[in-house]
Amino acid sequence: MKGLSEVQKAAVEELLAQMTLEEKIGQMNQESPSIVGGFDVPFEELIEMMTDGRISKQEFEHIMSSATQDFHEDAIRKGGVGSLMVQDPVKVNELQKIAVEESRLGIPLIFGLDVIHGFRSVYPIAIAEAGSFDTDLFERTARMAAKESRAAGVAWHFAPMVDVARDARWGRVSEGPGEDPYLGSVFARAKIRGLQNDHSSTDNYVAACLKHYVGYGACESGRDYNTVSMAMHLFYNAYLKPFAAAVDEGAMTVMAAFNDLNGVPCTVNEFLLRKTLKESLGFPGFVVSDANAIRECVTHGIASDEMDAGVKAAIAGMDMDMGTGIYAKNLKKAVEDGTVPMAVIDEAARRILSVKMWLGLFDHPYVSEETMARYTVLPEEHKALAREAAEKSVVLLKNENNILPIDPAKKVALVGSLAESEEEIIGAWAMSWKKEDCVSILNGMKETFPNLKYFPCGGPEGDISMDEVIAAGDYGDVIVAVLGELVSMSGEASSRADITLPGRQRELLEMLMHTGKPVVLVLMNGRPLALQWEDLYVPVIVEGWHLGIEMGHAVARVLSGEKNPEGKLSSSFPYVTGQCPVYYNHMNTGRPGSKSKFTSRYLDAPLGSLYPFGYGLSYTEYSYSDFKVAEKEDAFEAVVKVKNTGERDGRETVQFYMQDVTGSLVRPVKELKDFRKVALEAGEEKEVSFTLFKKDMGFFNNEGIYCLEEGAFRLYVGGDSRNCLMEEVYLKEV
Ligand code: BGC
Repeated sequence: MKGLSEVQKAAVEELLAQMTLEEKIGQMNQESPSIVGGFDVPFEELIEMMTDGRISKQEFEHIMSSATQDFHEDAIRKGGVGSLMVQDPVKVNELQKIAVEESRLGIPLIFGLDVIHGFRSVYPIAIAEAGSFDTDLFERTARMAAKESRAAGVAWHFAPMVDVARDARWGRVSEGPGEDPYLGSVFARAKIRGLQNDHSSTDNYVAACLKHYVGYGACESGRDYNTVSMAMHLFYNAYLKPFAAAVDEGAMTVMAAFNDLNGVPCTVNEFLLRKTLKESLGFPGFVVSDANAIRECVTHGIASDEMDAGVKAAIAGMDMDMGTGIYAKNLKKAVEDGTVPMAVIDEAARRILSVKMWLGLFDHPYVSEETMARYTVLPEEHKALAREAAEKSVVLLKNENNILPIDPAKKVALVGSLAESEEEIIGAWAMSWKKEDCVSILNGMKETFPNLKYFPCGGPEGDISMDEVIAAGDYGDVIVAVLGELVSMSGEASSRADITLPGRQRELLEMLMHTGKPVVLVLMNGRPLALQWEDLYVPVIVEGWHLGIEMGHAVARVLSGEKNPEGKLSSSFPYVTGQCPVYYNHMNTGRPGSKSKFTSRYLDAPLGSLYPFGYGLSYTEYSYSDFKVAEKEDAFEAVVKVKNTGERDGRETVQFYMQDVTGSLVRPVKELKDFRKVALEAGEEKEVSFTLFKKDMGFFNNEGIYCLEEGAFRLYVGGDSRNCLMEEVYLKEV
């Protein structure tokens, strides 16, 4: 394993030699605190009863107040638990003490949690942060999240989520870096470095967990947990790519996805886990199942019962069982009767112990009082990073008549109930934030715009107050309408069949437009939305996503012009939902969509996306010229001049794409190969260059063999995936 010294490796082997079969299987068991007492039905059903309205939220809370949590202390004492999901440092220490001092071999627990886009400092959701195209930022936010969580005893993040995701109906598009395998790979690598590489103290790094391995983002029709069928060339060239990159960067753990891939659930998929991940990619760490996924193999119809599911998962290469207890209950018998080879158990235990060793848990199992107290008040430096990330992730989609930026002296009518919310800026999957750190849009805007008045008017749910709409129109020189999705409308189990603005928000926009005042639409959402109507009628659209604790300041700074927007889209936006999945790097067809009838198109929707991947405006403009490509022995050197032709300084993301024109397999119409973030003062011009190595111009075929083929290639450079300059080159003698 990368980073494990010979001494540490020897210590792992020494420990393994002393362990009983039960203790090894114990390491393969991850538990969550279970809720016990106070109610007669299983906890999951209780949640369902609240969700479907059989009991109210108040009744649920009342029942919960009489329940207690079981932290599995007895099982820990017996060496029967390897990992737990807990985030309270006092509890962490208490449970760790049992493992270290009371279990026979004193093996520490590893505490894991979903730290997807920040721990206490919550940053933009990943789909938004990826749009900053800022590799250094990806790394710094991950490093900060690692420090904050380690101070709470959480040494293992179930992140980064690097699923390539191209169907905006899928709620989990919010958690990952978007539709492009190259941007996804850059993001994945940076996150691994940020989470794992600062070994100046054990307080500074955690083990990352790449998820969800693999293909989850391609679930059919964007419905969560749905089946995935995929040609193998697509698997290798797109969906596997960010995982392969992150494994190469040294990722310590991987989580298998819920879905099946071409008929075999990832949880029990030997081809994926053992052959591809561990053997071909050489992944040295351990694989954990997704929550409850081993049990779900029975429901999936791939295993006849829990024993069968556990056996299949273990043999396939699944090292740790998240939350079902199936390994703990069944694997001993399966080994004793010869169904599961002892070598499988040894391998899993070795991998898990190695990660614990690498984390320094054997020497530093506890959180010290000093570390625990470190972030009692969130340091200014952490807030500043959250603000930087938030403002770099804002994407300006439309700015007619230069309505933005807004002069801070103007009377701003702030509209939309999302604007006042502290919870709704956080995004799906954040659980360690504190309300006191959160700056709502209303609070952030008030600091910058002294003449601001707030008129809730309506939101993603509920009615519209006509009186407030009229009052907003009467008051404002300009109306800023904060509309979009609730946090609960994206993330896991939150697919939507209609991705227009939910509820009556479009109606609200229409009413606001009728006031005759200029309307600035600020979106808060966890996925690309279908904005055909908004793009036609609303003069200004700002994509604000769920930007985290500093969202209010970031939006205020962008709207006032203190910050020139620089974010680009990491995912294409459709005109209408029916176009999903819509993405820029789609395969070529024999009849590319055009105005003529017999082409690849819809009768009732425009061609392509409304806003393409890589798109985003700013308060200045950039021009591209003199694109030249020179051939070297092993590479093509491309150079282009980029000029800031406007009156404000800005930062442009210069994007470099390639198309393999003719190949032994059909190839995408464009593929991102590289990008560069360039700071340009008003009027300034810079030359930006890219090196495309010939060895990187190939692709994987359906057998997973890398093919580098002679022929014509088109190289493109531009400020988004649609508007590019193009040069053709010929690759020979490969
Ligand atoms: C999700 C994972 C998450 C796990 C643990 C599952 O439901 O799919 O992404 O890491 O729960 O919380």
